[in-house]
Amino acid sequence: MEIRKLKKIAVFTSGGDAPGMIDDDFRSLDYHDVSGIIQNGGTILKTARCKEFRTEEGRKKAYANLKKHGIEGVVVIGGDGSFRGATKFISEFDIPFVGIPGTIDNDISGTDYTLGYDTALNTVMSAVDKIKDTASSHGRIFFVEAMGREAGLLALKAGIACGAEVILIPEVLHQEDDLNRFIEKGMHDKRTSGIVMVAEGDEMGGALKIAEKVKAEYPEIEARVSILGHIQRGGNPTAQDRVAATRMGMAAVHCLMEGKNDVMVGLLNDEIVFVPFKDTGKAHLPIKEEYIKIQKELNTL
Ligand code: F6P
Repeated sequence: MEIRKLKKIAVFTSGGDAPGMIDDDFRSLDYHDVSGIIQNGGTILKTARCKEFRTEEGRKKAYANLKKHGIEGVVVIGGDGSFRGATKFISEFDIPFVGIPGTIDNDISGTDYTLGYDTALNTVMSAVDKIKDTASSHGRIFFVEAMGREAGLLALKAGIACGAEVILIPEVLHQEDDLNRFIEKGMHDKRTSGIVMVAEGDEMGGALKIAEKVKAEYPEIEARVSILGHIQRGGNPTAQDRVAATRMGMAAVHCLMEGKNDVMVGLLNDEIVFVPFKDTGKAHLPIKEEYIKIQKELNTL
């Protein structure tokens, strides 16, 4: 295998496309720029989605800027939208792109893991641990909403980790009966507190809507809502995230040196894999059957 010595590669983080490249806002990174940041959340690059990159004009501008700076390869850290943008760019220009999956939703095909997921999971778990103190002290049912517009894995695993009584996620439909059963059984058993973990994108419409409906039907219940929001996206990365990021980052650079292009670096069964961008769409129903079974059993206890 031929190993190429690359003089310059670019890296950006994105919830969408590539504004850093389009604005010609490059900054060189050496060892000192990245030492001492492994424990931080967020992105030091501050790059984000860019509408302009969706246009041919915008991508031409990005290419011209990359060329001007002598960039020989690009690492994009983001979700499926970022990889779609990269795929389009590669089809038009001759600079290779390699992706690293980063989203707290953990919903990208071709990889078991996306950066940020474990940190978010632990954030939700500790938040709910605290909420449970209030729930039991005051005899309340809390409807806690975790992020996940289209994916319920974060809510599902957090719900399991917190011992939630009911877990509602978009991948499992028609769960209204589970919820009602829990409320009615709870009232019958004089159970006064509990956690209903709701994924943002659940078909019943998120924690607020669900709680309002329950309150209207069962006015005697002390229901409260806690929408965890963006605290799930920040904070110090867990050991799992730091190690995964280091592994994926190194693999991505080696990948470009080996002349690979058009692939995402993923982790499957704890092994580094290279997945063509075309196979990295949003994974609908990525959840293991075993977890769904656990969720169903918990919901009907
Ligand atoms: O894609 C990750 C995600 O956390 C979704 O689960 C959530 O709906 C969304 O981001 C929120 O994004 P924004 O920061 O744009 O509000």
